[in-house]
Amino acid sequence: MAVGTGAEATNARAWTAYGAHHLQCGTPAPEVDRLAWGFWPTGPGAEVLGDLGGQRVLELGSGIGRYAAFLVQQHGARIDAVDASPTQHQRALAWYGDLPGLALHLGDAVDYLRQADPYDLVYSIHGFGYIDPGRLLPALAAATKPGGRLVFSVLHTNLEGRGPSPALAVRSERLHLTGHDTPLDVQMWVPSPGLWEDLLVDHGFVVEQVETLNAPEDDIPVSCRLFHARRRARIASRSRTARPPEPDGLGGHRR
Ligand SMILES: C[S@@+](CC[C@H](N)C(=O)[O-])C[C@H]1O[C@@H](n2cnc3c(N)ncnc32)[C@H](O)[C@@H]1O
Repeated sequence: MAVGTGAEATNARAWTAYGAHHLQCGTPAPEVDRLAWGFWPTGPGAEVLGDLGGQRVLELGSGIGRYAAFLVQQHGARIDAVDASPTQHQRALAWYGDLPGLALHLGDAVDYLRQADPYDLVYSIHGFGYIDPGRLLPALAAATKPGGRLVFSVLHTNLEGRGPSPALAVRSERLHLTGHDTPLDVQMWVPSPGLWEDLLVDHGFVVEQVETLNAPEDDIPVSCRLFHARRRARIASRSRTARPPEPDGLGGHRR
């Protein structure tokens, strides 16, 4: 798979090594009884996606396909799910490859979006932080129907308490993942919520809500944001400078 930048290539290698490790260990399929938009099983679940019946639905960065499979099995959805890691895709195929209503695709999300017919709903659970927004957003806009929805969760504050970036820049992050002894070194885009909103508006989306998802443990600073956006029926661009500056300078706690 060809991905655009060096940072994205680093991420592709990291997620491929992660999947290879779990293939080697024979890690069993996870028990999934809800969607987890943060990194923990509390907070909003599948209800934020609304009624999925009859909708054309796409998940980006679907990993082992657990959440797409859950929505197909428990919510009657039909879903296309795309992930760039061949090893994660292999795990997804082994567990959910025969599930009617779920189509698992191996490939870069942006390449996929560029050739796809538009969707009613596109969602991602911690997939967008690994993809250059400059590539992702134009392709997302083109592949979301006018009036269609975009729902995604992203990192806001990491385990060390570092908040989001005020400018659109990629940065190093070290992920400590459940069931994985060695941390995963990745390159991530962690824009502030206000910057995400600017980017979305510039690409023809209206942001309807941004939910704060904090780690349930008081001593863990990790925080995520869950965006609910809708593609405008008619596209009108807004000047980025129209938005007042964010109060904490980092844009970290605007919402
Ligand atoms: C944090 S994992 C989330 C997986 C899944 N959403 C879940 O919560 O179980 C991020 C996933 O994004 C995928 N990914 C990263 N860059 C991608 C890209 N350019 N296109 C498609 N998938 C990508 C990785 O391979 C990885 O499986």
